Amino acid sequence: MKQEMMEIVNQVELAPRIFEMTLRGDLTQEMVTPGQFIHIRVPREDLLLRRPISLAEVNHDDKTCKVIYRVEGDGTKAFSESQVGDKLDCLGPLGNGFDIEMVEKDDVVYVIGGGIGVPPLYELGRRLKEKGATIYFLNGFASKDVMYYEEEFSALGQLHIATDDGSYGVKGHVGMLIDEVKPVTGEPKAIFACGAPGLLRAVETTFIDHPHVYLSMEERMACGVGACYACVCQSKKDPKVNKKVCDEGPIFKAGEVII
Ligand SMILES: Cc1cc2nc3c(=O)[nH]c(=O)nc-3n(C[C@H](O)[C@H](O)[C@H](O)COP(=O)(O)OP(=O)(O)OC[C@H]3O[C@@H](n4cnc5c(N)ncnc54)[C@H](O)[C@@H]3O)c2cc1C
Ligand code: FES
Repeated sequence: MKQEMMEIVNQVELAPRIFEMTLRGDLTQEMVTPGQFIHIRVPREDLLLRRPISLAEVNHDDKTCKVIYRVEGDGTKAFSESQVGDKLDCLGPLGNGFDIEMVEKDDVVYVIGGGIGVPPLYELGRRLKEKGATIYFLNGFASKDVMYYEEEFSALGQLHIATDDGSYGVKGHVGMLIDEVKPVTGEPKAIFACGAPGLLRAVETTFIDHPHVYLSMEERMACGVGACYACVCQSKKDPKVNKKVCDEGPIFKAGEVII
């Protein structure tokens, strides 16, 4: 983990309120595990807490990484107003990342994302592709307008899309996409998911006895490094035990924590 003033080398609005920002710096060399995040200081004196944002793509050759974020409140709004050439104070990489050790060439894997949970799954997809896995991306969005990275995901594997309003792909949620692909693929070797709690619970329930289901959780964070307990969630086995999402997560095995 390192702190660095990373330079913004590109910033594009992919869809209304959804931005892709490219950052350059030495910190990139430490970003080795997909699913990790960086904690970015808001470039505004009055906003003290950093904002956690997942790494969507990492390129070691040119020392750049991409993040994709949705403007939610003042912090992400300030990121969207930052210009190419500005520097952002970044801490990272943080979190445990996805375990892809068990995936071997030609294994079928499901990578399931919803809304703004989709970004870290792109870097994950790149790594799974390097391993030669056969990847089924099952992505859910509110509507066609807020969809992004259709071409990028399609280049890595089979992309299936659901939208809540039916404006693109299957009308409904990603559970329907699972029902669509499972009869074709049979049981996948591993399932990786990131999205809202409802999506994560649906994945957990569908694959209840599967040994390789990995879920990326989101909790509000303060320090981001395991020191303040702002981000705890409860262990499923023993509700008296707390797990810190920032350093014991954000990725947990299904059944490990209460979603
Ligand atoms: C591990 C992790 C990875 C994330 N990756 C992404 C990503 O790739 N793209 C993206 O758009 N969003 C991501 N988020 C959510 C993102 O951190 C929040 O949307 C953002 O912090 C909101 O900040 P704000 O100032 O715009 O909103 P405000 O609501 O004004 O934020 C106020 C405070 O609440 C915290 N907060 C608000 N919502 C969340 C949330 N959902 N999770 C954690 N803290 C929150 C903020 O950090 C801040 O301290 C991630 C969250 C976590 C925990
Ligand atoms: S945010 Fe401080 S312990 Fe996780």
